[in-house]
Amino acid sequence: MTADHVAPGAHLLVTGGAGFIGSELVRAILARHDGTRITVLDKLTYAGNLANLAPVEKDPDQARRFTFVPGDIADPDVVDPLVARTDAVLNVAAETHVDRSILDPEAFLRTGVLGVHVLLEAVLRETNRARAGERPAAPRFLQVSTDEVYGDIPEGRSVETDGLAPRSPYAAAKAAGELLVRAYHVTYGLDTVITRGSNTYGPHQHPEKLIPLFTTNALAGEPLPMYGDGMQVRDWLHVSDHAAGIEFVLRHGVAGEAYNIAGGTELPNREVIGRLLAAAGRDWTLVRTVPDRPGHDRRYAMDSSKLAALGWRPVVGFDTGLPETVAWYRDHPEWVASARSGDWDSYYALQYGDRLAAGRAVESRGEAD
Ligand code: NAD
Ligand code: TYD
Repeated sequence: MTADHVAPGAHLLVTGGAGFIGSELVRAILARHDGTRITVLDKLTYAGNLANLAPVEKDPDQARRFTFVPGDIADPDVVDPLVARTDAVLNVAAETHVDRSILDPEAFLRTGVLGVHVLLEAVLRETNRARAGERPAAPRFLQVSTDEVYGDIPEGRSVETDGLAPRSPYAAAKAAGELLVRAYHVTYGLDTVITRGSNTYGPHQHPEKLIPLFTTNALAGEPLPMYGDGMQVRDWLHVSDHAAGIEFVLRHGVAGEAYNIAGGTELPNREVIGRLLAAAGRDWTLVRTVPDRPGHDRRYAMDSSKLAALGWRPVVGFDTGLPETVAWYRDHPEWVASARSGDWDSYYALQYGDRLAAGRAVESRGEAD
């Protein structure tokens, strides 16, 4: 195992910390009460929700070690002074929904490419200050990426040395961000690590994504829009495992390396939907097969042996994680209502209006349409 890069008591900058995975990371680290301080920089887009950080604000010891800064990672005036005060930058911020990237890619590029560039420039400046003896150590930079950068994987499992072959604007922006990170490591010697997580689920995920969308619709008795034949395969990772994997790579990852964080639960969407309906106490009469997502990747699958060799593996099984997640959404109607505010109705109409009108009933989870 490599040396601990970020000791307890460090000051971390977590971008996107009001979102699903970022807020889990912040809550988990601060709840350990080990002296770690965290600054969150978040633009509070439709996906950011300060309610996700309420447990931190409510606890006096955590609140003392926590600062929230509203702002854009693509704005150097905001980013530079924050990076000057931190021991590590965890870039969790991104536009994250594939369907939205198909409707309107520009924000994905601004945050995923220009935003990453602004952060890297700030880290470079601080690295040079460390080299000049003006600060004790250079900040480590961790880029949160995704299995989607590998593209569609009909067979086998992606390893970290595979080429990147993104196929959606979301995945292309994430791949571009990663490539910049690698370039700054090679060219300027920045201390960088990259994580590639698989499809993540759990409490606090915005209801635009498959599991929370289908859960909240099922609980409300609304139709579930299944794209195409529903036989697309994803590898599911619980959010607490994803956050723990990110922190593990921050501490123990080798500079310049990328690490797959796989959940180890590869399932076709139909199987996920069937289990979700059972947990929600609903049946297949709610499910509609609707026109497919353009360019829809059929399968993602990653080999996680590199991270396992370093000493980390996920612990939450889908059998317990999924019903607990469904229960969380059932128990948090105010949170769901706040996530389904803002542009939700117009987005839903644009994404699903025509699809649901063209949709057809699905008889059972095993049947191809
Ligand atoms: P999310 O959409 O829930 O949250 C994203 C957060 O980033 C929000 O709080 C938003 O306000 C903030 N943000 C967006 N643009 C910003 C900007 N320009 N400046 C500052 N803040 C900004 O996303 P998530 O699901 O928590 O994903 C977090 C990261 O993990 C992303 O980088 C994503 O690509 C990656 N990832 C997600 C999954 C998944 O299944 N959710 C899987 C693998 C990787
Ligand atoms: P999603 O949660 O959007 O994650 P990603 O596209 O990043 O994998 O979708 C997961 C799977 O569920 C994917 O195969 C697309 C499918 N899906 C539907 O069938 N219907 C939907 O309404 C959504 C949002 C997703």
